[in-house]
Amino acid sequence: MDAFKEEIGRTLEPLTGIGAARIADLLEVPPEPVMGDLAFPCYILASSWKQAPAAIAQRLGEQLSGQRGTYWEKASAKGSYLNFFLDPVAMAREVLQQVYSQGDCYGGSRLGEGKTVVIDFSAPNIAKPFGIGHLRSTVIGHALYLIFQALGYRCVGINHLGDWGTQFGKLIVAFRRWGEEEQLQSDPIGYLYRLYVRFHQEAETDGALEEEARAWFSRLEQGDREAEKIWRRFKELSLGDYQRIYQRLGVEFDYVQGESFYNDRIEDVLRLVQERNLAVESDGALIIDLEKHGLPPCLLRKKDGATLYITRDLAAAIYRYEQFKFDRMLYVVGSEQTLHFQQLFKVLELLGFEWAKNCVHVPFGLIRFKDGRMSTRAGKMVLLEEVLERAESLALKIIEEKNPSLPDKPAVAAAVAVGAIRFGDLSNDRIKDIEFDWDKVLDFSGETAAYIQYAHTRICSILRKAGETPEAPEEECLHRLNSEEEKTLLKVLAAMPEKVRASAESYRPSILARYLVDVAREFNRFYHNCPVLGSDPLLQKARLLLVGATRQVIANGLGLLGIAAPREM
Ligand code: ARG
Repeated sequence: MDAFKEEIGRTLEPLTGIGAARIADLLEVPPEPVMGDLAFPCYILASSWKQAPAAIAQRLGEQLSGQRGTYWEKASAKGSYLNFFLDPVAMAREVLQQVYSQGDCYGGSRLGEGKTVVIDFSAPNIAKPFGIGHLRSTVIGHALYLIFQALGYRCVGINHLGDWGTQFGKLIVAFRRWGEEEQLQSDPIGYLYRLYVRFHQEAETDGALEEEARAWFSRLEQGDREAEKIWRRFKELSLGDYQRIYQRLGVEFDYVQGESFYNDRIEDVLRLVQERNLAVESDGALIIDLEKHGLPPCLLRKKDGATLYITRDLAAAIYRYEQFKFDRMLYVVGSEQTLHFQQLFKVLELLGFEWAKNCVHVPFGLIRFKDGRMSTRAGKMVLLEEVLERAESLALKIIEEKNPSLPDKPAVAAAVAVGAIRFGDLSNDRIKDIEFDWDKVLDFSGETAAYIQYAHTRICSILRKAGETPEAPEEECLHRLNSEEEKTLLKVLAAMPEKVRASAESYRPSILARYLVDVAREFNRFYHNCPVLGSDPLLQKARLLLVGATRQVIANGLGLLGIAAPREM
């Protein structure tokens, strides 16, 4: 679409006085295909021309009447829009050439070349189960990583593990009081989690527990050997469990640098804050007043000397800038932490870091359950591993029914299950809360990954039956692709690069996810009305080219969401 829009931009620039690039941005897709392929909204000119939009459309239409470009063949006014009709052959040539020449890279670009994006994502809390809550950060963050990478950016993915904080004092106390080595060995996270829940239950009646926990965390912060030894074990055991989940989800990080990684940088941060006269000390506590900026005060160090989540985040941000000289840093973290990031970015700015403006919080809503908000304290929690297992067994059941002779069924079921879970999240606007619903996540016929994956396998089967893989568009075929379905499908395929770009610009993988549903839907419509095999040889060739390009777009798009595109299922 970019090439088409650019040409229309160049055509309209001398007639409107608006720059070609801006015109290209303004172009819209008309609601009905019969109205044209791209529309220029003339109300944009109304105030400067002191004319009604419809009159402007009329006038531009007259100026362009009888003319055509390389890609557009006709322009005409309709209401307040000037509508452009694309030349189907030129469009087919352009789209197919792009898809076939770029192959696995189609959809991406070199927009971000030379630029670095740091993405902070996943970040579960050690010794707690990887809940479905951290799933959102993991899949959104990973998709953004893949999307920015496809746009040519250097991406640095960091897992900022929650491996420090007062909860470790609690866990140490719980483990020393009630811990059983054997249970810890057999199911580390599950067991630590149960200890954590027990701590909170018992703390309700035993007032001494909280105090004891604070003391142990304090020992930990001071580098006490015993405290550190227990903590380190908790961390290693938890990491082993997380690793299994990341492997299943196909997620990798460039760095796993948890909060504790910054322990020996905290002093420097506190010193810097004091040098800049930003903080006030009161009773040993260190606080930055942010009232002038409309934010609550930021506590950097408690009276007992313990540092906080935000203190470690300050150290982390500064360290990352030193290391990576990022052009942008994204924090993919739930919207309940909005205030935390506002404070963090403000303090970085007050410290004089010019790059603070390039730090972005990418928030997302909660995953809700029918029985209320998830809470680790109360012990109600849906575990991601259980979700994955259930999804897999359901996928396997469906495959057994539909395609019992499929080779390597478990592997395909795993791809379908991971796809269902990732897509169930990514296809929703991230800001909105998701109601977790088994039927929806696992609906194989709705707007799900399986629906898209299935379109992909159908195309693979067509190509297998045809016995050929189209490689490059042949000129003589192009004019055969002239049915409404074919033209629409081509236009949808042409939109991929701008959808990928839009996903990155607004940090919304949902744009790409929804686009893929459109691709699959348009493919199905096409396939229903336009037989590919057995049509006359030239037409068959043309249609094979079109379905081959569709396959590429689906595979690339799913890939950018971290979802596999099986050839059979
Ligand atoms: N571990 C934190 C949590 O679960 C999320 C950390 C996000 N990243 C960061 N740099 N603060 O709430």
